[in-house]
Amino acid sequence: MRSFVYTAHRARVLFGTGTVAELRAEVERLGRARAFVLVTPALAHRAEHLLGPLAAGHFDGIAMHTPVEVTERAERQLDRLRADCLVSIGGGSATGLGKALAARTGLPQIAVPTTYAGSEVTPVVGETAAGVKTTRSSPDLIPRTVIYDVELTAGLPVDLSVVSGVNAMAHAVEALYAAQANPVVDAFATQAIDRLTRALPRIVARPDDPDARADALLGAWLAGSCLGAVGMGLHHKLCHVLGGSFGLPHAQTHTVLLPHVMAYNAPAAGDAMRRVAAAIGAGPDAPTAMYDLIARLGGPTSLAELGLTEADLARAAEQTAGQNAYPNPRPVTAGGVLALLTEAWQGNRPAPVGRQPQPDIGPLTEQVVASFADSAEPRTAHLLGELVRHLHGFVADNDVTEAEWQQAIDFLTRTGQMCGPTRQEFVLLSDTLGVSSVVDLLTNSRNPDTTPSAVLGPFYVDGPPVVLPGADLARGLPGTPLWTDIRITDLDGRAVAGAVVDVWQSNQDGFYDVQLPGLDGPVLRGRLHTDTDGALRFWSILPSPYPIPTDGPVGQLLEATGRHPYRAPHLHFMITATGYRRLVTQLFVAGGAYLDSDAVFGVKNDLIVDFERHTGPTPDGRDIAGGEWCRVDFTFRIAPED
Ligand code: BEZ
Ligand code: FE
Repeated sequence: MRSFVYTAHRARVLFGTGTVAELRAEVERLGRARAFVLVTPALAHRAEHLLGPLAAGHFDGIAMHTPVEVTERAERQLDRLRADCLVSIGGGSATGLGKALAARTGLPQIAVPTTYAGSEVTPVVGETAAGVKTTRSSPDLIPRTVIYDVELTAGLPVDLSVVSGVNAMAHAVEALYAAQANPVVDAFATQAIDRLTRALPRIVARPDDPDARADALLGAWLAGSCLGAVGMGLHHKLCHVLGGSFGLPHAQTHTVLLPHVMAYNAPAAGDAMRRVAAAIGAGPDAPTAMYDLIARLGGPTSLAELGLTEADLARAAEQTAGQNAYPNPRPVTAGGVLALLTEAWQGNRPAPVGRQPQPDIGPLTEQVVASFADSAEPRTAHLLGELVRHLHGFVADNDVTEAEWQQAIDFLTRTGQMCGPTRQEFVLLSDTLGVSSVVDLLTNSRNPDTTPSAVLGPFYVDGPPVVLPGADLARGLPGTPLWTDIRITDLDGRAVAGAVVDVWQSNQDGFYDVQLPGLDGPVLRGRLHTDTDGALRFWSILPSPYPIPTDGPVGQLLEATGRHPYRAPHLHFMITATGYRRLVTQLFVAGGAYLDSDAVFGVKNDLIVDFERHTGPTPDGRDIAGGEWCRVDFTFRIAPED
């Protein structure tokens, strides 16, 4: 593992819908009373209204790339108004002006971003003087408070949403190959790319889709955090040069350049590119996946389209390569940059790196996704769309052959043929691929105060025989006698009386009763009820490790992949009580086999408990031949119903 340094910047962030209503309270929270508002004309009135008496005045002459003459004009107004804090409402240019003014006056800022630029969470400001854009960085430039209001972004025109969203993705991409890259920033970056990749097509389809807007804004915040945490490389440098010296529009330039800079850096940043490709989910080659995404979103793909002339290319390349060295995974040469810029100027799709070109599956994927648009349930359309995207991406990423796909279909066919009332091979497949545990984690483990849940498994039988307190579920079967002493409480530790507790386990040889023909009724399973103290006690036998069924396709899969089929020894519980959420879980024997390689990935640390070994008198006076017995004591905490 590589050591790293991660600097978290202190900022208060409000995220949600309608959050801008908190603006006045946030100014008060900073102990300020005269806010100078930097805002686009369209939002000026609303901002002053929200601030009421705390609005000292506003400035609406914001310009792109933060020209110093504009900043100076705003500063004179700020002085005249005797403002004591700054509020910027708008895109990166509004935030940039706020930072430039903060740098001159030391006043605290509140940023209300309405685009995906991300500047509101970074310590950097870029300013343009005499046609040259320079940046400076200081933690003092970071806005003290950021208010993300999804509603304010709903009206951002589609074309601006796209370029601003790709601008955000550029922060995340460069963070992944930055010299100071680290796992924390990597996680922000991949999340940002993932969210924006999925949100932008939905915004293009329905610009006011609140969920898509929320996803995009969250992605933008994460991407901005990357920009604020690690240094940027060639891409950002080029955008500064083309914006500051050639007057190209900021976010549009980011959008055109990103796939080409990625293609330039790809040979020296394989790992970062793999992560980007995985986050986009449309093929193994990140630069072409990014280009295709932008093209599909209707974003600009050529510098010529943005107004750069062919004659400017060499000058821009010289200026970029000639500047002070800055970190970039691949050395920056004027020739290399010129080739890159020429490709970007012409709007070519970057050549896939190091492999045969692959046909663009994007339009086909989107056609299939769109075919679900009329589903009666929006959730159905969403889930099927995502499934298709991931499946297509998987097939493309791995160049799955026809023979491999046929093999997969045969496997699934055999799995289906092994499903019926007493055998569910699909559940077993889901279990052994860890999907059941993922669904279980997402569904049941959101409350850290309750006992964790665990998979149900295929051996539960509804309506087990009711047994009396202290009964022996083993009914004389061989095994080390086990005394189980259970309590069930609510989240405050109060006893839950009358809870219905179903218990089941395998026998000493690792078989459940339902697997053994010719048994005289159920055994090693039963239904008990908690008493007024929320307690219940019973005898059974110490559970053993056992293999899950291996006589079907799942067994073949385990065999082919060198995996063993064993489950760590455990006892199953299903706890139901009126007014509480049902808890399905298992207790695992501490020190037992396979705890760290359970075949169905069901073990959770909080469920591993001591099954203490004892000799001598038993808790209820039962006489044990041979003398050795075990006991397990456990308190289950269950959550109230939603
Ligand atoms: C079980 O613990 O009973 C089980 C769970 C998943 C798959 C197979 C068995
Ligand atoms: Fe089991």
